Amino acid sequence: MIPLVEMRGISKSFGPVQALHKVHLSLYPREVLGLVGDNAAGKSTLMKILTGAYQPDEGEIYLEGKRVRFASPHDSRAMGIEMVYQDLALAGNLSVTANVFLGREPTRSALGGLVRFMDERQMEEEAQRLLHRLRINIGSVRLRVESLSGGQRQSVAIGRATAFEAKVVIMDEPTAALAVREVGKVLELIQVLREHCVAVILISHRLQDVFAVADRIMVLRRGVKVGDRPTAKTNMDEVVGLMVGARGDGGEETRAVATVG
Ligand SMILES: Nc1ncnc2c1ncn2[C@@H]1O[C@H](COP(=O)(O)OP(=O)(O)OP(=O)(O)O)[C@@H](O)[C@H]1O
Ligand SMILES: [Mg+2]
Repeated sequence: MIPLVEMRGISKSFGPVQALHKVHLSLYPREVLGLVGDNAAGKSTLMKILTGAYQPDEGEIYLEGKRVRFASPHDSRAMGIEMVYQDLALAGNLSVTANVFLGREPTRSALGGLVRFMDERQMEEEAQRLLHRLRINIGSVRLRVESLSGGQRQSVAIGRATAFEAKVVIMDEPTAALAVREVGKVLELIQVLREHCVAVILISHRLQDVFAVADRIMVLRRGVKVGDRPTAKTNMDEVVGLMVGARGDGGEETRAVATVG
């Protein structure tokens, strides 16, 4: 099977800091990939390269087997890659509907219709339909986002990311700021996305969340990929060991340990 996304040999430095060193990532259709690692391991940087927010120093990106070059998140979005940012980037003073449609070019097709031809009522109907499809429970799409709970906001952010024929949704710490009861809802949403044939990359420090939803888990340590395992063939201990450097695939262990100082 051709990977939906393939990143090959990605390296990136920020001045003296080598954030990523020849990292490979593959993501298959309908797959939920957990991307884990300690703070500063390079997770967000790798995803920002995938969306075109950063340019890699070396390495290539392939989408459905074709080489792509994303100059900006605008480009990756046009090809179906969406990122839900850690800070959500929602406009609190605007309605749920307005947030779903925020910053979209009017000509892009959404859910079979054309946004260009939509008036406010149609937009509300589309937003309602989207939330319904994703089984997101929010009283009214007219509510201002600032009046919603953290979990509901996260749902709107994910809904917004998937409204426009997304193939891949990247979530960077979607559950970090949530109350325990809201976490389950977000994890459920990831399952619903999979049902809709959307592949997901989930970054989380909450390993229990990753183990609950991911098909495969990839571990970064100090910018190096040190593990990639089907979730069914690993466990929390092994993943933690990979994250902190107790174990490692290939020759990476020595290198990572050597940099501890
Ligand atoms: N724009 C930037 N300028 C300079 N250094 C950066 C920049 N972005 C990331 N870095 C550095 O690159 C390394 C990887 O950072 P990154 O944000 O990718 O880590 P992360 O795995 O997402 O960490 P966390 O779990 O804390 O979010 C860090 O050392 C960080 O300081
Ligand atoms: Mg990060």
